[in-house]
Parts: sequence; structure tokens; C-alpha cells
Amino acid sequence: MKGLHLDGVCRQAGGRPLLENLELRVAEGECVALLGPSGCGKTTTLRVVAGLDPLSAGRVLLDGEDISGVDPALRRVGMVFQSYALYPHLSVADNLTLGLKIRGVPAAEREERLSRVLSLLRLQDLRPRRPAQLSGGQRQRVALGRALLRQPRIMLLDEPMSNLDAQLREELRPELRALLSGAGHPVLYVTHDQQEAMGLADRIAVLDQGRLQQVGDPRELHHNPANRFVASFLGRPAINLFPPLEGRQLAVRPEHLRVVSGGGLPARVVRAEWNGPQQVLWLDTAAGLLRLLWPASSAPPDTLRVDWDPEHTLAFEASGGDRLPRPDPAWNGDLIRFLQH
Ligand SMILES: Nc1ncnc2c1ncn2[C@@H]1O[C@H](COP(=O)(O)OP(=O)(O)OP(=O)(O)O)[C@@H](O)[C@H]1O
Ligand SMILES: [Mg+2]
Repeated sequence: MKGLHLDGVCRQAGGRPLLENLELRVAEGECVALLGPSGCGKTTTLRVVAGLDPLSAGRVLLDGEDISGVDPALRRVGMVFQSYALYPHLSVADNLTLGLKIRGVPAAEREERLSRVLSLLRLQDLRPRRPAQLSGGQRQRVALGRALLRQPRIMLLDEPMSNLDAQLREELRPELRALLSGAGHPVLYVTHDQQEAMGLADRIAVLDQGRLQQVGDPRELHHNPANRFVASFLGRPAINLFPPLEGRQLAVRPEHLRVVSGGGLPARVVRAEWNGPQQVLWLDTAAGLLRLLWPASSAPPDTLRVDWDPEHTLAFEASGGDRLPRPDPAWNGDLIRFLQH
């Protein structure tokens, strides 16, 4: 019963559904990343939980209590908006501590909590500055610090690190994670960076067009995607999808393609891309363009042949994209022969 529960949450606006029947639980101290493409409803979900947008059906429950009708100001939600929403006339330090002052937290305690957050977010030298005198990433850190200082019952974070450079984002990740889970409240963390979602969150909820596609830990989503959307949205380089065959769409991840000396699919290497410690080869084959991982240290040939272990074939309904049982392993050879033409 403890934690946050979105119970059949729907939101309509402008005559169309923005959220459809969301069912999601976030336990105390748990961080769930809400991941999905632009416009899928991530911010809307947070706004509904914060009480800033109305529900058209369903309930938002906190520790078993229905808070759907509770005034937003009384929900004790810590929210970091995509747009930061800082007070322009206040310094960094005052922006951070205003909420504490209003709640009557004594000056000594305010100062102590302030310096902890300033040092965590590497903002010590910026405390007298106003928002206009900060970079986008610095503003974002102030907004994050302000939400952390509020000691809320729920923490809602909308792409809180999107304006930070990749290095700082990676550096802050473990500390932020410790801080979020240490505080013990449920955390909903919106991002469209899957690396960040996997590094920070206990579970990931994948959203598309206002509908939850799958909720699970990163491993589960990667190995056992519920549908074609989840399979293609997660994993980089993206999964290889073959043209539909007998009402099925088959797919295999780039890391599961292997190079063989005979048989398999003949392929011409049309492009090599650097991808950290590996290269991604783009292969032109009779079954379309495929992606293959190749060691960074060796130059790829002009042509090669690929196949894969049948246990790595994923199958989806060609029309709706729902996951289908794995095809019979004996069928994989036929499939590859089919794809050759
Ligand atoms: N008040 C509103 N009235 C009508 N449509 C809205 C309203 N607010 C948002 N939308 C639409 O709802 C959809 C979801 O918007 P939302 O801001 O939740 O997306 P998002 O997942 O946060 O996207 P992004 O990653 O770009 O921030 C979008 O198509 C948006 O245009
Ligand atoms: Mg958004």
C-alpha cells in the first residue's frame, strides 16, 4: 500500500486522449524511469500526479490514499520542470531555500541542508548569482537542488539532466541515484536517454502515444520486449527488423548477428560507424539494411556473410506489433534461405 499508484489514469485534452488507462506503481525509495519519444505523454503524466493537469478517469493514490482531488499545493510533490521555473529575481541560494524559509525551517538547518545540496550539485561558487547569470545546465541543477531540499513525499523529475554535458551527467548519476533512493520517497524520472534510464532507475516504464507499453527492469525489457515498439526503442544500435513474412515480423539484435564463412546471408558493408569501443557496420543484404557490431581494432571487409543463433530470433505480429512466441528453431534455416532472395 505504501508508495505511489497510478490507477487507470486517463487524461483527455483538445478532444483526444493524451493518457490512456495508465497503471503504474512506484514503491517507497524506488526510482521508475518514464521513457518514451517526444510527445508520448511523459510530462503530462508528471503533471497529473502533481495535480497540475486534471484526470478524465482513474485515480492517483499515495500510500493508499486517493490524492486525485487534493490541491496541488498540499500534495508535497517535489517537481523539477523541463523549464526549471526558477525565480529570476532571487539568487541561487535564495531560490534553493525559499521553500524551507516559508515552512519555518530554522536558519542553521537551512544553511546546513543548503551547503550539502550545493556541494552535491557542484554549485558552491554560484550561490550569489541570479538565474539569468547561469548557463542552462547550471539552472537545471538549481531546479533539481530546490526539489531535493523540499523533502517531498513524491519526487517528479522531468529530464533533470538534459542540459548537462554527457560527462557531468554520467558523473552525477551515482550520487543522484543514492540521494533519490536514500530519501525514501517514490521517484518518477522522465528521460528519453535510455542510458540514463538504465543507469539510474530500478525499473523502466516505456510509454508510447499515451499508453504504457511495458514496465520492467532494464534486463527484462532488453531480453523480453513485450512488443515491436519496445524492441526497437530500446538498445543501440537499434534492433534489425526483417520484412514481414507470413504475418510475422522477425527481428534480431545487432550484437546477435555473427559472421560465418559459408551459408547465411551475403552482405555488402556500406558504412562503418564508431560506437565507443566498437564499430557498427551497416550491411546491405537481400533482407534490407542490417546493423552488425564489429571490433574497433580491425578493418572490416567489403563483403561478408551473417547468420544468428535461432534462440535470438524475436517475432512480432506484422500488423499490431505484439510479441509472438519464438519461431521453431528448425525454421531459422528456412528463414535465412527465404531472406537470401
Ligand atoms: N493542454 C493540452 N492540450 C492539448 N494537448 C496537449 C496539452 N498538453 C500537452 N498536449 C499534447 O499531449 C502530448 C503529450 O505531451 P507531453 O508534454 O506530455 O509529451 P512528452 O512526452 O513530455 O514530450 P517531450 O519529450 O517532447 O517533452 C503532445 O502531443 C502534446 O502536444
Ligand atoms: Mg516533456
